Amino acid sequence: MNFQIIGTGSAHPACSKTNDDLSHLMETSDEWISTRTGIRSRYVSTGETLTELAVEASRKALENAGVPADELDLIICSTIRGDYITPSEACMVQRGIGASCPAFDVNAACSGFLYSLDVAAGYFARGRVKNVLLVSAEMMSKLVNWKDRATCVLFGDGAGAVVLTQGEGLLSMKLTAQGGAEMLSIPHVEGNSPFCPTEPAPPYLLMDGHGVYRFAVASMERDILDVLAEANLTLGDVSYVLPHQANLRIIEAGRKKLGLPPERVLSNINRHGNMSSACIPTLMDESNRAGLFRRGDILVLSAFGSGLTSAACVLRW
Ligand code: UT7
Repeated sequence: MNFQIIGTGSAHPACSKTNDDLSHLMETSDEWISTRTGIRSRYVSTGETLTELAVEASRKALENAGVPADELDLIICSTIRGDYITPSEACMVQRGIGASCPAFDVNAACSGFLYSLDVAAGYFARGRVKNVLLVSAEMMSKLVNWKDRATCVLFGDGAGAVVLTQGEGLLSMKLTAQGGAEMLSIPHVEGNSPFCPTEPAPPYLLMDGHGVYRFAVASMERDILDVLAEANLTLGDVSYVLPHQANLRIIEAGRKKLGLPPERVLSNINRHGNMSSACIPTLMDESNRAGLFRRGDILVLSAFGSGLTSAACVLRW
């Protein structure tokens, strides 16, 4: 026994900033950003909290599933950083939607939605839960350095959620991690301990773009082939791939290596940029609401990110 996805939802801040908007703040251009990444605009918070976005996405997913909040048995939130270090973001969502079940966070950076699906699968396998809410929520605009044009233009804010119920929708799953902060990291905001005189690192995202790019393309191809093999399926069985939305060039490189036609590999990076773990559930929600998925469709999810982590899974819709 594992799970079936029965509802999806997503939310983003009201304010969308185009590449041209950013070119008034720093030396960049729509031409550079769109040709290198496929991004044309991204949503950024002008006051919305992460909790507000996560609660809105969760409410929409619950409504879509027809499951009332008081029938949830577990809430998992994947996030790099919640509104608080503690309480967890999942606990804030629990209160926001009026649920009373256990709630906790998972941090696997951009792979967080898939890591969380795997955690949820364990609860279903043990028969501990009937309905689970999984919400991925990220506010990257508060984590990047807006004086570093090489990274700040890539990211956006948003939340995506799914409701899981008992079923047989998860066909295979693969998670990887190769630990280290060299390629991609966000240092903590430090406290003010009088006993530790070392100068804290600035609390902004640092990235070796080329290194992450290479890791991303290699892991996307390898992980997708591995999860398909584990599920006894081939690329020809795949209805849609929902890849992490970090860079359209990465998605295209992976797609070409796999030999998949463009219409089978979904993307919304042009409107959202990289929302870390919120990318895939947001893409899933937008595709679901556009009526793209048919019952029985084979969906392949593939993600990579800081850790470095990567993940892929096969779902039957
Ligand atoms: O969720 C996972 C997170 N991250 C990723 O997946 C990112 C993976 N990496 C990438 O997507 C790409 O490596 C980037 C989009 C980050 C960079 O693309 P690139 O084609 O590798 O560009 P580059 O870093 O080689 O930079 C080329 C030039 C540089 O100028 P010089 O040294 O050639 O004169 C940069 O200074 O572009 C310059 N540049 C910019 N120019 C205009 C860097 N950022 C900008 C910018 N606007 N925003």
